Amino acid sequence: MSGIHRIIFNRLLAAWVVVSLLTGAAVSLLGLSRIDGQLVDLTTAELAKVSAASLPLLNRAESQRSALNQLATDFVHHHAIAVEFRDRNRNKVAVAVNPIEAELEQELRRQSYSFPADADRHFKKITADGETVLRVLVPIKEPAGEIAGYVEGTFLVDRETLGRLRHEMIFTLLVVLFAVTLTTVCLYPVMLSLNRSVVRYSNDLLKGNVELMEVLGSAIAKRDAATNIHNYRVVSYAVRLAETVGLKPGEIRDLIAGAFLHDVGKIGISDNILLKPGPLDAQEFETMRTHVTLGVEILRKSDWLQKARDVVEYHHEKFDGSGYIKGLAGEAIPVTARIFAIVDVFDALTSRRPYKEPFPFAEAMAILQQGVGTHFDPRLAAAFGGIAEALFREVSTTPDAAVESRLQALIAKYFFASR
Ligand SMILES: [Fe+2]
Ligand SMILES: [Fe+2]
Repeated sequence: MSGIHRIIFNRLLAAWVVVSLLTGAAVSLLGLSRIDGQLVDLTTAELAKVSAASLPLLNRAESQRSALNQLATDFVHHHAIAVEFRDRNRNKVAVAVNPIEAELEQELRRQSYSFPADADRHFKKITADGETVLRVLVPIKEPAGEIAGYVEGTFLVDRETLGRLRHEMIFTLLVVLFAVTLTTVCLYPVMLSLNRSVVRYSNDLLKGNVELMEVLGSAIAKRDAATNIHNYRVVSYAVRLAETVGLKPGEIRDLIAGAFLHDVGKIGISDNILLKPGPLDAQEFETMRTHVTLGVEILRKSDWLQKARDVVEYHHEKFDGSGYIKGLAGEAIPVTARIFAIVDVFDALTSRRPYKEPFPFAEAMAILQQGVGTHFDPRLAAAFGGIAEALFREVSTTPDAAVESRLQALIAKYFFASR
């Protein structure tokens, strides 16, 4: 399973578990209270049969209660474990216990149960001896609505009825879980396609940023003819050295952008200095140095191009602190700028410029060697010494167009392949 599939699958699975648990718990609670409600309704309907008949008999003197006792006895015989009648003062006036269930009734009486404070219908579900028993108390009312007394019935819940109601609840639960599962499964392709859109948009954005980097790099190349292929070569050298010393992919991305744009500030240097065939005088050199701050100012316009900033700002710093523009020394100079300084000078030495012929490889390396510890980081220079000859041979025997396409491959590897 690829990365994004796994992420979407795991998140949907987590959502499915949470929603299933919550809806399952809600359905179960509602279902159980519905079962209780249905059982109470059934038993209340049973009690209603005897309530009307007991109404004229409830509040008679003790000697006249035989009819009420008979009513209670007949009722338990057909319908219940026990029944109790109370008069309007809540005094017990008739009790009957089904002889078959007398033992269970004894057991139930031992469980605490008090007369409710108000006059509404009350019920209590009790489990005793593995049976479910429902005790329901209903007020008996005069036709005018006044309370004449109470009847309390104790009923054995029929296992078949209970089983049917439970099955109905389980069925509802399964239907709800099925609906949750179906919704989750339907969401999968929706989320996948949304994610693809996001990836497409962010790739387009990245492509635009990389193009901006290349456009800016070639804009300065149009002013200084040497810079275009110089840019391509220094990026290749810099990436190879960075890989050799184990820089992280994120640092290598910054290095590529920085190498591309290292002299972008030269756009702001006048032609008579930038294109001067001979060496610069002190004043001209001072002006030339401002290409570093001009470059930093240009990059400030884009957040994405800030990744190039370290190389642009510090590519003329020297390891002993004698460089410009800040005069940083040693490891205070960002590693990307220290790497770049080596490959920039190496390429300048081995390239043809309007004012000089290229130095042979060995001579260029000897000059580079003179700057180790003063201009260049010794550790990085040593690493470059190990790969320079093969790298130089590879780049110098490759046509410029192929150097450019190799560079595009590096951009693809570090900017797009990791996404
Ligand atoms: Fe520069
Ligand atoms: Fe350069």
